[in-house]
Amino acid sequence: MTALDLSPTPPDLDRAAELLRGGELVAFPTETVYGLGGSALDDHACARIFEAKGRPRFNPLIVHLAEDDDGREHAVFDDRAERLAARFWPGPLTLVLPRAASCRISLLASAGLDTLALRRPAHPVALRLLATLGQPLAAPSANRSGRVSPTTAAHVREELGSRIAAIIDGGACAVGLESTILDLSGALPLLLRPGGIPLEALEAVIGPIGVAAKPAGNAPRAPGMLESHYAPALPLRLDAVRALPGESLLAFGPNPPEGFAFLRQLSERGDLSEAAANLFAALRALDRPEFSGIAVMPIPEYGLGAAINDRLRRAAAPRIQTNTDKE
Ligand code: TXA
Ligand code: MG
Repeated sequence: MTALDLSPTPPDLDRAAELLRGGELVAFPTETVYGLGGSALDDHACARIFEAKGRPRFNPLIVHLAEDDDGREHAVFDDRAERLAARFWPGPLTLVLPRAASCRISLLASAGLDTLALRRPAHPVALRLLATLGQPLAAPSANRSGRVSPTTAAHVREELGSRIAAIIDGGACAVGLESTILDLSGALPLLLRPGGIPLEALEAVIGPIGVAAKPAGNAPRAPGMLESHYAPALPLRLDAVRALPGESLLAFGPNPPEGFAFLRQLSERGDLSEAAANLFAALRALDRPEFSGIAVMPIPEYGLGAAINDRLRRAAAPRIQTNTDKE
């Protein structure tokens, strides 16, 4: 099977919705990264998502909503959830909420948990697809398990082109990093994964947020918390100031150090949102066998820098994971 190339036109979106209703998988653009979509109401489609990614079943999927209101049927929104949804949806914020009694989402999508991860993406093509389909879409990032998330349709084709029915090309993703995941199922809100909305912006709306402790063993609250993740094939060296032989450089800011075999600039002017948008494509471009490794310049830790550094630390972490540990 070779994935159909679809454009974001009404007839192609109708075609995509038809495939999705038939239980097929369709990759689609969101403002964060490309998602691997399957009907969230369909157990078989959800099972296919895990299969296509090579993802262990206990790693739950994010459910993408057509309308904010649809969320109330499936999950329990408390006052904090209402305020955050009103402020940040559509947008790169995923809320983990208790499943509602009326929930029709496949149990496989939430891996049997009694919570559900929900978001409404801020991408016109994703929103039109959801509206055309009239159902929520379960969609993890459209990469094979443990690999760098795709920010263009070409990346998706490299990763999954032979495993899914279609890819909708909506150009490059503007945010470039996955959504922030906030767990509101307990009394204290917990940050499960830093992402497109900075922690500071969430705290401005609901007050202090705890940061989830590192999981014990291989039962993560969110696999984004696993040590080794978003992994290129080459080793990564963080906070690099000087070149080692054969290394390529992931640069940030003006005047990067010299002596590297190859360079990709995240943001010449030191802009963190520009850097986030370029991050995954740059990692892919530097991850080539002719280099000995990827050196990374220091990146500030505030705002989107926290999420960028989180992904880079995981990409640099030792690869001693078993298969079942990976997303
Ligand atoms: O920006 C994004 O979030 C992208 C786009 C496609 O929306 N999606 C994405 O999905 O990054 P994925 O599957 O690669 O990451 C979803 C994360 C996983 O770390 C998963 O464990 C966590 O969400 N998650 C999903 N449901 C959960 C739940 N009920 N409780 C805790 N974590 C959950
Ligand atoms: Mg992912």
